[in-house]
Amino acid sequence: MSVIDLADSARATGTTAADLTIVGGAGHVGIPLVLSFAATGLKVNVNDINLDNLAALKSGRLPFIEYGAENLLTTALRDNKLIFTNTPEQISKSGPVIVTIGTPVDEFLNPERHVILDCIDNLLPHLDDGQLLVLRSTLYPGTTDAVDAHLKRRGRHLNVAFCPERIVQGYGIEELARMPQIVSGTTPEAIAEATALFRTIAPEIVELQPIEAEFAKLFGNAYRYIEFAATNQFYLIAQAAGLDYQRILKAMKHNYPRARNIPRPGYAAGPCLMKDTMQLTAFARNEFSLGNAAMLINEGLPLHVIGDLRRRYDLGKMTVGLLGMAFKSEIDDVRASLSYKFKKVLSGFAYDVLTTDPFVTVDPDLLPLDEVIARSDILILCTPHLSYKTADLKGKPVVDVWGLLENANLIS
Ligand SMILES: NC(=O)c1ccc[n+]([C@@H]2O[C@H](COP(=O)([O-])OP(=O)(O)OC[C@H]3O[C@@H](n4cnc5c(N)ncnc54)[C@H](O)[C@@H]3O)[C@@H](O)[C@H]2O)c1
Repeated sequence: MSVIDLADSARATGTTAADLTIVGGAGHVGIPLVLSFAATGLKVNVNDINLDNLAALKSGRLPFIEYGAENLLTTALRDNKLIFTNTPEQISKSGPVIVTIGTPVDEFLNPERHVILDCIDNLLPHLDDGQLLVLRSTLYPGTTDAVDAHLKRRGRHLNVAFCPERIVQGYGIEELARMPQIVSGTTPEAIAEATALFRTIAPEIVELQPIEAEFAKLFGNAYRYIEFAATNQFYLIAQAAGLDYQRILKAMKHNYPRARNIPRPGYAAGPCLMKDTMQLTAFARNEFSLGNAAMLINEGLPLHVIGDLRRRYDLGKMTVGLLGMAFKSEIDDVRASLSYKFKKVLSGFAYDVLTTDPFVTVDPDLLPLDEVIARSDILILCTPHLSYKTADLKGKPVVDVWGLLENANLIS
């Protein structure tokens, strides 16, 4: 039975009753949340427009890497704790509705604010007054109050909460169980109900006003992005001075608590950090100089590496191999990965560009690691997957900004 058949039959037989609905439940934020709630015994309505992901989940397969999720999915399916739906009319009236859809920025790096309101408008005819509506996507400041006002203008009285997701991608199951949950709401009932709901999966609840919670999420991501930019700029400064930044960083951090959290340099990418920094920049009317500087540094790092290679080598006669196409190590997600920026820019300069990744499954151009190593004149470690640490790179010159590789022929 296809997912659509399944959804139709669910509608026909009125079987969409569940303890809660997660709209966007088959996405990166949705899946760990669905499985964490299902593990507490709740029946969860996984509502998503991505039919492929719904079909994967229904067959017991995760559509992407989410560590610790496989057993939970198997158990949830076995215990009949999941239903799968793909239209707004199939959300369950019997419990809270949590929205975890994507909240992108547009080509001007401004938030696409209509996305959430469009989604709510589609859900609205199928929501009851008094029902708890939890926004969990990362939101432009003021969105929760704007949703509340939007609903009231339509004569509707839902309890709207904003409870931001703060997991690190791929490790949501573990982090949801370990990290405090920020809860905010537009009514005391919304706060009380959202608190009760998240108490079942989170060890601690921290309460804020909705706009404070929206800023807390954005500040958290922007801060991380700025941290990466700081260490990346230190790397560039050290490199320009002919020094080994990894050596300096190691010494700085050694038994010195104030330097403990300085990240290693690397390609800071993915679907959240830059996007959320840009949401803050838009809110601050572009007066977020640290955020803008962070973007220039982080997005500029691949260009710096390529510029450096062009000065040293005649790239037009050389094949460059890119190791790792996911946006970070040990996951399969290529969204906003700077590896693809490398590929795009190098395609204009190098004789050929070859790519490989042990986790990514969505890119038909990927080649086996051995072939990329054998055919390349130069390698760039784009993603620090752990398996590369011990890979035999056959003595090929390699750029390793991350400081991962041991015994490699490093281009410093
Ligand atoms: N990925 C992360 O680790 C992470 C962490 C914290 C916060 N966030 C935030 O969470 C939000 C979601 O991010 P994500 O990475 O899970 O995105 P995603 O694209 O992986 O998941 C979003 C899901 O929503 C579904 N969807 C979109 N519109 C829908 C609709 N109208 N009805 C039903 N389903 C719909 C999509 O099909 C997709 O499966 C974003 O605001 C993001 O910034 C993400």
